[in-house]
Amino acid sequence: MLIRHTPDLRESEVTDRRLYLDRRRFLALGAGAALMGAGQAQAGPIASYAKGVVVLDDKPTSKEAITTYNNFYEYGTDKEDPAKNAPGKLKLRPWSVAVEGECARPGTIALEDLVKPHRLEERIYRMRCVEGWSMVIPWIGVSLAEVLKRFEPTSKAKFVEFATLADPVQMPWIKSRVLDWPYVEGLRMDEAMHPLTLLATGLYGEELLPQNGAPLRLVVPWKYGFKSIKSIVRIRFVETQPRISWEKANGREYGFYSNVNPEVDHPRWSQASERRIGEFRRRDTLMFNGYGDQVGSLYAGMDLRKNF
Ligand code: MTE
Repeated sequence: MLIRHTPDLRESEVTDRRLYLDRRRFLALGAGAALMGAGQAQAGPIASYAKGVVVLDDKPTSKEAITTYNNFYEYGTDKEDPAKNAPGKLKLRPWSVAVEGECARPGTIALEDLVKPHRLEERIYRMRCVEGWSMVIPWIGVSLAEVLKRFEPTSKAKFVEFATLADPVQMPWIKSRVLDWPYVEGLRMDEAMHPLTLLATGLYGEELLPQNGAPLRLVVPWKYGFKSIKSIVRIRFVETQPRISWEKANGREYGFYSNVNPEVDHPRWSQASERRIGEFRRRDTLMFNGYGDQVGSLYAGMDLRKNF
């Protein structure tokens, strides 16, 4: 059984700037098949997945920081709360996901069956939180587009809505009503079908820990972190733009698109720079978090100040 520990990744494996510059090469690289090891244990090693694909030449943030500095309001609002509160509380198996709405093949599907038919890949992505900090995370997951296609969305499916589990027994903190539960997020269909969009099941070579949104979370690296919804139990194809949790909580500050954009300030702070966790000096924030070559065309002609 091959177990890869990402800290041992050689620089040549994690850094290939040509991948960033050549989207076709990036897409082609994913073509090597790898089967998923459907490990049952919490945070067990993942047996097999395709070699790391990096889209920007950044060094991954430490596993320690990625797994202890979190936002997961279902387990408290402080950064250290999810790592303290979610393990042991969130029951990871059995887990199933209801796929509903505008599609020919709706149904409730066990996590293993949802993921297993697909190529499991490592993707090392920059993530930028709307609060102004960022990390580089070696995710493991499957292409969301490949998963969604199996349910045969109809021509009426213009958006995809995702919901997190909202169980007051496993998540007693949701009684606090800081957000309107369940946590809901959404993507436009073309965003959901974009090859960068990932359904993640692991990071750093291991299954996701509860605090990072086990057993299944979304990863959308060109958008602010809150779009990357955790512990997903429902995926719904819809005709109209979903009302997302943060928009409901404060629509003046958080919009549906939430593309990383250094030119559009949050009403209470600048978005021009960020603190990469583990670094001292602030970095300039890049348009679309540096993924503009890949995703910029999705927003051609849109006013990104209005559609923030
Ligand atoms: N998903 C749910 N269900 N609940 C949350 O509170 N927080 C979001 C996002 N997904 C959140 C969520 C925010 S604000 C961020 S920045 C990322 O998760 C953080 O992901 P990480 O803790 O794995 O870094």
